[in-house]
Amino acid sequence: MNFFLSEEQLMIQSATRDFAQNELLPGAIERDRDKKHPTEQIKAMGDLGFMGMLVKPEYGGTGMDTLSYVLAMEEISKIDNSCSVCMSVQNSLVSSGIQAYASEELKHKYLPKLSSGEMIGAFCLSEPEAGSDATMQRTTAVDEGDHYIVNGTKNWITNGKYAGMYIVIAQTDAEKGHRGINAIIVDADAEGVTTGELEDKMGIRASDTCSVMFQDVKVPKENRIGEDGFGFKFAMKVLSGGRIGIAAQALGIAGGAYELALKYSHEREAFGKAINKHQAVAFKLADMATQIEAAKMMVYRSAWLKDNNMPYDQASAMAKLFASDIAQTVTTEAVQVHGGYGYVREYHVERLMRDAKITQIYEGTSEIQKIVISRNAIKGKLYLPVKEELVTT
Ligand code: CAA
Repeated sequence: MNFFLSEEQLMIQSATRDFAQNELLPGAIERDRDKKHPTEQIKAMGDLGFMGMLVKPEYGGTGMDTLSYVLAMEEISKIDNSCSVCMSVQNSLVSSGIQAYASEELKHKYLPKLSSGEMIGAFCLSEPEAGSDATMQRTTAVDEGDHYIVNGTKNWITNGKYAGMYIVIAQTDAEKGHRGINAIIVDADAEGVTTGELEDKMGIRASDTCSVMFQDVKVPKENRIGEDGFGFKFAMKVLSGGRIGIAAQALGIAGGAYELALKYSHEREAFGKAINKHQAVAFKLADMATQIEAAKMMVYRSAWLKDNNMPYDQASAMAKLFASDIAQTVTTEAVQVHGGYGYVREYHVERLMRDAKITQIYEGTSEIQKIVISRNAIKGKLYLPVKEELVTT
């Protein structure tokens, strides 16, 4: 009996685990080595409903809660993070953003295709000179009456090459600062949209990260998400949810590395006994397990807060910060437990160690999470689901 996951959530967890083991593990090393996009694997994920978990059935999704989505993200991230980052961007940044803030027409036009995986979406915020300082958008969306003309370059775009649509964050009225920014849906086949070379990355190498260029792209006004000038707040709001997905990814990476280390520690003998009978290895396993359990509580709690319509910005920033840090430590220790075998591709654990690093960088670096957390903490906001008078200010 699990103390707080429902029977349905436990079922999703175990079904995803089986899927990841059977469908994603084969070929994961080769896809990573060759930067080969997991097209078939993502199609299979779409067929099974993973690409629209947070989308309501009326828009073609499976309408799951955030905690179920987190459990699925965690299991997939134990095995293949090029697949899980695609799933995270699709669910958290693209589809959830459209579902929460776009017009009914846009929801009906895009969500069914995104949910089935027939179409992949990308979120275009970062620019060559605006990553963390997201208000400094150089990409422009000039208001031409019934349409916008979009110009600019976006960098580090996950799903950039294979996307059928982009949510582009662009400046319409520079004088208004962040209140002059809009979020606009641009179809990938619109005239003037081009993509750059695939980035040659340290980890998540099969995920298609590239720059996306917009040159005099004409976009109908109806493609704007929300009111005029809502784009920056839109980006902040979806990123708060997105950070739960990346925290779940980091948790999965740590969990995957730990499981590999544990298995190896039973099989490998040194000085006449299994290496986990030596305190040097046993204590490493103890530290790894403790860190994973702590991160799990934070990640699940941030999902629970979101599912219960409670403020979760602070909790998701904390969960991402902590889970991505422990993913670094746990994967490094898991490689150490494997010794020389940990350093070669065949044992998978070095790939997880390389994948871990990006979780401290994308969807807001660890330093950005600390800005969010400290600003809230200084205001006395801890968002604990306890009685007001018990919250320490
Ligand atoms: N929800 C709603 N509104 C929010 C908000 C939130 N979570 N956070 C900020 N805002 C609002 C503020 O209230 C403020 O509005 P008003 O002026 O009307 O009061 C406005 O937005 C500006 O806020 P700040 O003054 O706090 O803005 P700032 O310039 O100090 O920056 C920041 C805040 C947190 C540092 C922000 O710039 C940020 O999050 N930067 C990181 C961006 C990021 O995460 N990039 C990742 C790229 S996407 C990616 O990686 C996807 C991928 O492909 C995997």
